[in-house]
Amino acid sequence: MVRNLIMLGMAILVVSLIALIIIGFLSGISNPLPWISMAILAIVILTHNRIVKYRYLEWKESYSVGIESIDNDHKKLIQLINNLQTAIDYKTNNEFEKKTLAEVIDYTKYHFSREEDLMENNGYSDFVAHKAQHEKMIAKVTELVQAYEKDESEGIKAGAIESLLMYLKSWLINHINGTDQEYSEYLISKGVK
Ligand SMILES: [Fe+2]
Ligand SMILES: [Fe+2]
Repeated sequence: MVRNLIMLGMAILVVSLIALIIIGFLSGISNPLPWISMAILAIVILTHNRIVKYRYLEWKESYSVGIESIDNDHKKLIQLINNLQTAIDYKTNNEFEKKTLAEVIDYTKYHFSREEDLMENNGYSDFVAHKAQHEKMIAKVTELVQAYEKDESEGIKAGAIESLLMYLKSWLINHINGTDQEYSEYLISKGVK
């Protein structure tokens, strides 16, 4: 609700600034109003872009585990989490939000089982501990999803989905950059691509 009001306010501000620029230039280029409006508009756009960049995940080469199939899974997870961010930021209905959330969770489970099969089939020594981290994450996500689904009031639901998204983002990036990097050298030495 609060975010929707902020977005509405931003839209009104941008439209008003564009109107001021047009009206200002129609009254002559010596008028300072359109130039000031253009400067404010540029600041608004730059600020908006910074906020968007901060909220969305971006793939970095440093995230690579050196195994193309796993990197592709991680990239896909980042994309699905960003889809969920979009659904939350620009939601028109709860169904789209629920659909994108289900896609993130389903793909996470699929990726975990693929990663676990690779580790187990190649005799990776830390397989059990790594699998335990995956299971702990799924248990926490299940708990957060239950909290999200439990209350139908919009304010509480919005808070619950934000918590869920924050957890997914921080866990995924920390895991890719930490635990997933640990199997990299071993699995590559076993010829995993
Ligand atoms: Fe993992
Ligand atoms: Fe992974």
